Amino acid sequence: MSDTNPETPEKYPAPLRILHWLAVTVFTVLFITGLIMEDLDKTDPLRADLFGLHKSFGVIAIILLIVRLWVRLRSTLPDLPPSLQDWEVTVAHWGHRGLYALMIATPLAGWAHSDLHGRPVKLFGLPLPKLFPTIENIGSTTGLIHTVLAFTLLGLVAVHVAAVIKHRYVDRTDVLHRIL
Ligand code: HEM
Ligand code: HEM
Repeated sequence: MSDTNPETPEKYPAPLRILHWLAVTVFTVLFITGLIMEDLDKTDPLRADLFGLHKSFGVIAIILLIVRLWVRLRSTLPDLPPSLQDWEVTVAHWGHRGLYALMIATPLAGWAHSDLHGRPVKLFGLPLPKLFPTIENIGSTTGLIHTVLAFTLLGLVAVHVAAVIKHRYVDRTDVLHRIL
């Protein structure tokens, strides 16, 4: 068990709370657009629009994450509730690290997939630099990597939300107010 330091705040600083919920919104859009666009026929004009929207929101996810990590490194964070067991503290820290790692790896893999296939990445029409070279006949593995990362992220988010619900309703330790 860890002791609570009276000097530390009860909640995450406001910019981090706002950035958390903005990220939740952006990831929801990414999953909805990603799944719908993959199901559409190649001749459907909505497909290209959804790909454009998906890539733009993916780029926004990267920008939000960079800002968030920059703010986080300069902020005093709230201590975890002292009622948490040591193993729960360890799982929470590694779980959050895992979320951050997947939040950067997933969009980068999407960007790599587009660049490697020579398909431009634009932010609502604004062309963005190529981060990866185009490679002829690269195949579909890079798309598969992006998909696997996206679904691993979704799985970890499910565990993350389950942990918040467990703390609130089973342990009666509300951690949700720290991020609201
Ligand atoms: C964390 C951010 C992202 C998430 C959670 C995400 C999620 C997804 C999902 C769920 C799919 C559908 C996969 C399938 O059903 O096979 C998809 C496909 C795709 N995404 Fe993303 N995406 C993200 C960021 C990006 C970015 C930044 C780009 C490009 C700049 C991108 C480009 C693509 C492309 C090109 C596909 C089609 C892949 C294929 O044809 O195999 N995504 N994404
Ligand atoms: C309804 C959905 C969600 C709820 C209720 C929720 C709730 C929370 C709560 C309560 C915390 C604070 C944990 C603590 O006490 O330290 C937190 C932190 C965090 N959440 Fe979520 N979350 C949700 C969705 C997401 C999603 C979709 C992502 C990422 C894609 C995410 C990523 C994170 C990360 C990385 C942290 C760690 C913050 C830090 O320490 O910098 N969350 N979330």
